[in-house]
Amino acid sequence: MTDHIQFSPEKDCLVLLDQRYLPNREDWFDCTTTDEIYYALITMVVRGAPAIGVTAAYGCYVAAREVQKSGVADWKSALATKLDQIEKARPTAVNLRWAVREMRRVWQEAGDVSLEELCGVWLARAKEIHAGDIEMCELIGKFGGALIDEGDTVMTHCNAGALATAGYGTALGVIRGAVDQGKKISVIANETRPFLQGARLTAYELHKDGIPVKVACDNACALLMKKGLVQKVVVGADRIAANGDAVNKIGTFGVALLAKHFGIPFYVAAPVYTIDPETPTGDDVPIEDRTPREVTHIGDHQITPEGVQVYNLAFDPTPNELITGIVTEKGVIYPPYKENIAKLFA
Ligand code: MRU
Repeated sequence: MTDHIQFSPEKDCLVLLDQRYLPNREDWFDCTTTDEIYYALITMVVRGAPAIGVTAAYGCYVAAREVQKSGVADWKSALATKLDQIEKARPTAVNLRWAVREMRRVWQEAGDVSLEELCGVWLARAKEIHAGDIEMCELIGKFGGALIDEGDTVMTHCNAGALATAGYGTALGVIRGAVDQGKKISVIANETRPFLQGARLTAYELHKDGIPVKVACDNACALLMKKGLVQKVVVGADRIAANGDAVNKIGTFGVALLAKHFGIPFYVAAPVYTIDPETPTGDDVPIEDRTPREVTHIGDHQITPEGVQVYNLAFDPTPNELITGIVTEKGVIYPPYKENIAKLFA
């Protein structure tokens, strides 16, 4: 699945498969303005760290075209404001910040270009980032697939699949890699309250690919592991700190603790640029606090008493000592993470 993020030359805009309605409806969402890019990011029309990075890269192009159409004289500061808006849409995934910074770097490198020229340079770079993400995921699949054994059942949390990337996926890339290597495996997708990325999205894409998948309630994890039904855990990451702590969807930390308790290998799969050398530990990562409505409601139906407050912190850091290995497109990083990550960046 690679068509869920598309650049349409005819409409000159970014077209996204609207993940809010999956698996029941395949609707498409056109982004022709910065506000639409921002809206798609914050409401999770598109979600998943690499996918929001790719969206942000195209988003900079969309912003540049918008400024061009407006005819504003000081186009440079108008554009800078729009880039800031895109960069701030979601705070946890480093990929969003990375993509906007990369477009700023490309702008600086291009020198004293016209807005029309900048549009051309940015669209080309966004397309490269888009294609490069699929290549990285396939390499993650190759290295990670080798860690999975014939007959394994792999548990995953959230959706770190094709939908969360430009295609193939990171955690689901590892699963696809194992399948491509001829292994017969199956998957347990934790449902992942409150947005249900596991139940809706992981199940959707694996089922579509014919990879056996069962959805389990988040709170079934301990029992399933105790019963010997899980041989490996593989999850994605929104940001990996310099010491190897990995921040991923809320609930991942608990899954990692349980995996440690039951002696089950716990892998994190992510491209190298998800590792943020500027962030020393997982506790330094800003955790997105999302709308209470995701917890208080299922669809339009309210499930908590009116007026009751809720928590909706969207991510948690898993400490590095719970992580067996970090699978990247350059190979698997093992402990000691701080030293091995530093070597990778050196
Ligand atoms: O809030 P989301 O759906 O954007 O969160 C996504 C995750 O936590 C994924 O596991 C992570 O981004 C890795 S995606 C390859």
